[in-house]
Amino acid sequence: MADEDAPPEVHHYSSLQEVPWDIQNYWAQRYRIFSKYDDGVWLTDDAWFGVTPEPVANKIASQIADSAPAGRSILVDAFAGAGGNTIAFALTGKWKRIYAIEKNPAVLKCAKHNAKVYGVEDKITWFEGDCFEILKNQLKELAPYSVVFASPPWGGPGYRSDRVFNLKTMEPYSLQRLYDEYSVFSKHMVLYIPRTSDLKQIAKLVPAGGKATVMHYCMEGASKALCIFYGDFNVS
Ligand SMILES: C[S@@+](CC[C@H](N)C(=O)[O-])C[C@H]1O[C@@H](n2cnc3c(N)ncnc32)[C@H](O)[C@@H]1O
Repeated sequence: MADEDAPPEVHHYSSLQEVPWDIQNYWAQRYRIFSKYDDGVWLTDDAWFGVTPEPVANKIASQIADSAPAGRSILVDAFAGAGGNTIAFALTGKWKRIYAIEKNPAVLKCAKHNAKVYGVEDKITWFEGDCFEILKNQLKELAPYSVVFASPPWGGPGYRSDRVFNLKTMEPYSLQRLYDEYSVFSKHMVLYIPRTSDLKQIAKLVPAGGKATVMHYCMEGASKALCIFYGDFNVS
């Protein structure tokens, strides 16, 4: 697939010598991130840091597929990145359609290309732009049938250092902002956030009589991240 028009910031590194030093640890784990890496997976150098490793993405995808409320047949992946989660959603075969949004054009090219590597490109409709705008304007008719999944950037102070991660100062979007924006579109949303996220802040957003389920995703005996399921998911 090397003959497609990859933008200059997109790479498929095939030997350690080519890999910038700060992503060498990630590259060493490339087959855990994308098992089909050698089939020509594309990434930008920044996308390596945010991509959901394939076993975790597959587990999340099967849990959402098995627990989504009846009548929800569309999955919107609000922060598609290089496609880690989007591809896993498509591979479940559960969804009538997957809508994947990414604002960085080069990263979006990676996601599209990687979906081809995994043979699922025909199940996905792609949007380049801001997810909050696209949900409001281009996807609003689909709201009654949709579940929103979001793996936002985990910027801000303390993601690596603090014992408890403060979701109010998560950058560029706080948990409150994500919840408020998405709940206008769909009350059924799954957010993928740091494993040390403050559970009290998560619980505060649950409406009276509602529920939230928190799931940790582990690899080699350690939690990698968690998902909050807001809405009527039947997670077990
Ligand atoms: C953590 S990464 C997502 C990784 C993805 N789940 C994967 O497995 O490859 C977050 C992505 O959100 C994108 N992003 C940030 N703000 C956005 C916005 N407002 N709308 C759409 N995409 C956005 C960033 O460019 C980045 O690629």
